[in-house]
Amino acid sequence: MQGRLFGAIEFNNNPNDRVYTPVDIARYIIKLFDPKGMILDPCRGGGSFYDNLPSPKDWCEIDEGKDFYDYTSKVDWIISNPPYSHFDEWLDHSFALSDNVVYLVPIAKVWKSWGTMMVIKKYGGIKKVLFIPASRCGFPFGFPCGAVHLVRVIRVRWKLYMRQNSVLKEEKEECDRK
Ligand SMILES: C[S@@+](CC[C@H](N)C(=O)[O-])C[C@H]1O[C@@H](n2cnc3c(N)ncnc32)[C@H](O)[C@@H]1O
Repeated sequence: MQGRLFGAIEFNNNPNDRVYTPVDIARYIIKLFDPKGMILDPCRGGGSFYDNLPSPKDWCEIDEGKDFYDYTSKVDWIISNPPYSHFDEWLDHSFALSDNVVYLVPIAKVWKSWGTMMVIKKYGGIKKVLFIPASRCGFPFGFPCGAVHLVRVIRVRWKLYMRQNSVLKEEKEECDRK
C-alpha cells in the first residue's frame, strides 16, 4: 500500500501504525467510556473496537479503501486505537467530526509536543484517562499506554498552563526577585 499524502506530508507504512488492540481491552475501554449515539471507529483494523460498539455505528479502514481523512459526517463519538505516526493530523480531523474522542495510544503521544497540546487545548480538554501497561495491550513496544477521552466541552475548566520560553524567563526572574 502506498503512503498517504496529507497536505505536504506523506504518511508511510510505519509498522507501529498497525498494532491491534486485544478484544478484552477494547471491550473494557468501551464499557468504561460508554459511548452513545452515532459512533465511529475511524480505523477498524481487525475490528476489536468496532465489533463491540453499540449501534448505530460506522467505520473506516484504509486497508479496505475507506480513508478516515475522506470521512466528513459528524458523529457523537469516535473511539479506537489510531495510527500513531500522524497523530496530530489524525486528532485535528477527529476533532472536526466529533465532540467526544477516545483514543488508546502510547500515553506520551498526548503530551509529546507543544503542537499536540495546542490542538487539544483549542478543542477542549482531557476528561478521563485510563492508564494501561503496554505489555497488557500486547503492543510490540514498551511505552505505557492509555485510553484518553478528549472532549470539546468541559464542565470544569481544564487548567493547562502553557508558557513560551520568553514568558518562562520573565516569570522565573520575577520569582527570583521575591
Ligand atoms: C494502531 S492500528 C489499530 C487498529 C484497530 N483500531 C485496533 O484497535 O485494533 C491503526 C489502524 O489504522 C489504519 N489506518 C491508518 N491510516 C488510516 C486512514 N487514513 N484511514 C483509515 N484507517 C487508517 C491502519 O490500517 C490500522 O489498521
